[in-house]
Amino acid sequence: MRTVAVVGTGLIGTSLALALVRRGLTVHLEDADPDAARTAASLGAGTTDPADGPVDLAVVAVPPALVGRVLADCQRRGLAHRYTDVASVKAGPRADVTALGCDTTHYIGSHPMAGRERTGPLAARADLFEGRPWVLTPTADTDTETLNAALEMVALCGAMPIVMDAGAHDRAVALVSHAPQLLSSLVAARLEHADETAVRLAGQGVRDVTRIAGSNPAMWVDILSANAGVVADILDELAADLGETVTALRALEAADEAGRRSGAAGIEAVLRRGNNGQARIPGKHGAPPTRYETVAVVLGDQPGELGRLFGEVGALGVNIEDVAIEHSTAQQVGFVQLSVAPSAVARLNTALREHGWSVRSV
Ligand SMILES: NC(=O)c1ccc[n+]([C@@H]2O[C@H](COP(=O)([O-])OP(=O)(O)OC[C@H]3O[C@@H](n4cnc5c(N)ncnc54)[C@H](O)[C@@H]3O)[C@@H](O)[C@H]2O)c1
Repeated sequence: MRTVAVVGTGLIGTSLALALVRRGLTVHLEDADPDAARTAASLGAGTTDPADGPVDLAVVAVPPALVGRVLADCQRRGLAHRYTDVASVKAGPRADVTALGCDTTHYIGSHPMAGRERTGPLAARADLFEGRPWVLTPTADTDTETLNAALEMVALCGAMPIVMDAGAHDRAVALVSHAPQLLSSLVAARLEHADETAVRLAGQGVRDVTRIAGSNPAMWVDILSANAGVVADILDELAADLGETVTALRALEAADEAGRRSGAAGIEAVLRRGNNGQARIPGKHGAPPTRYETVAVVLGDQPGELGRLFGEVGALGVNIEDVAIEHSTAQQVGFVQLSVAPSAVARLNTALREHGWSVRSV
């Protein structure tokens, strides 16, 4: 593959173009907003000059609702030999592409599982897709050369291809991304009018659950509009679970022993199902989840403290598998939770204490 056209030079289109230019490809940039295309070109993402003839691959990087129309227009113009898109949902654009009578043999849907909170070409980064999954959704009529062109694009961006059915993709992203976003927002929304004293008690649990509630509403309205039915199905199931959980909690307040026992069993079942689901989330580098242990260290809130701690752990030959920082709301300190292999815990605890660190058991 030597020549590519990127149609829609926002965050994703420009990031892709930057990655491909870096690998020596010629990239032609187009956008309904000429400023966006010019900005992308000025960042080194390619040229706004049209190609002389059909390019090897055209990538449609516009909002999901426009993919069908833009693809139809590109094909009418004979812009490329093969086509793909990068929309975050796949079934809707696929249905539009079919309804508009596009050539589906030379088109394959795709979704890079990477992004940022910001949109537009100025937020683009050439390394945005490195090491990230990139879903491809071929159908029975996608020809092999088109699949190969998409695989080559993914490889050039340093991403990992995952082939899926469009409907299965949309259910998957609803489950792991879209429904969690709404639940996080709903939990955070409970805090909007809560007492200041209650909010000040916020600890790591509520911070973890509400982290993504800070997302951009306009961007999420777009995403959810394109996958609304599937997300609503998952929320319906969650609503049924919530109903059962409320019933179990009410039973816990019951006067009779049998009622309380059934309530406790109901709550325990919910928590156990949660344990089981959480244990299935892949660990580092997509490996099966590994049980690390946590060493918690109290750290003063001053420059260089974190570097000093990491340096000492490194000098002990211990690999930090993951790290989380919990900030004290009342004092100028934080608790750094280092995830390490269980075999390293005792040695790390002893050595850090000897070096004057305050190590907490968790
Ligand atoms: N933002 C993310 O995190 C993310 C992640 C993965 C996939 N995606 C998908 O990538 C696509 C682009 O998203 P983005 O974040 O880059 O958005 P963006 O708003 O940064 O860019 C979209 C660009 O498309 C242009 N455009 C709109 N209509 C057009 C048309 N008819 N012809 C040509 N250009 C047109 C806009 O002017 C804009 O520059 C979307 O389908 C989105 O679902 C986004």
